[in-house]
Amino acid sequence: MLRKITMTINGEKRTLEVDDRESLLEVLRERFSLFSVKQGCSVGECGACAVLIDGLSINSCIYLAVWADGREIRTVEGFEQDGKLSVMQQAFVDEGAVQCGFCIPGFLISATELMEKKRSFSREEVRRALSGHLCRCTGYQKIVEATEKGLK
Ligand code: FES
Ligand code: FES
Repeated sequence: MLRKITMTINGEKRTLEVDDRESLLEVLRERFSLFSVKQGCSVGECGACAVLIDGLSINSCIYLAVWADGREIRTVEGFEQDGKLSVMQQAFVDEGAVQCGFCIPGFLISATELMEKKRSFSREEVRRALSGHLCRCTGYQKIVEATEKGLK
């Protein structure tokens, strides 16, 4: 069944009809060309599809688009301000935390969720916050270090 929903995506209010079986991942990629939202496992295991929903990092492959009605969605495309990378994006670049890059938007989403809590985190807490994301390239160490740099 089709349903009309309204959500804010990267600061812009969007109203559209979605099938009640469509995932938020499908809607963000196929209707809005937000390709930072990666399709990896499609079953909530890899974290590649994470987006911020009302400030919380959530895997969009297992989140129905209809649940996003009335919510604020942010993807990595919305992080840049006036042509400048966000503090966390810049930290990932500076620390060389990116290899193939496929997993990185998901990590940035969870790292940004932490950053917006505006407090300090132990290394253990950072590792736990990022633990829902799989990376096949980096060995994770540089991603953890980049996140800690972005949190300073
Ligand atoms: S694609 Fe969503 S968790 Fe893997
Ligand atoms: S940088 Fe390649 S999967 Fe993480």
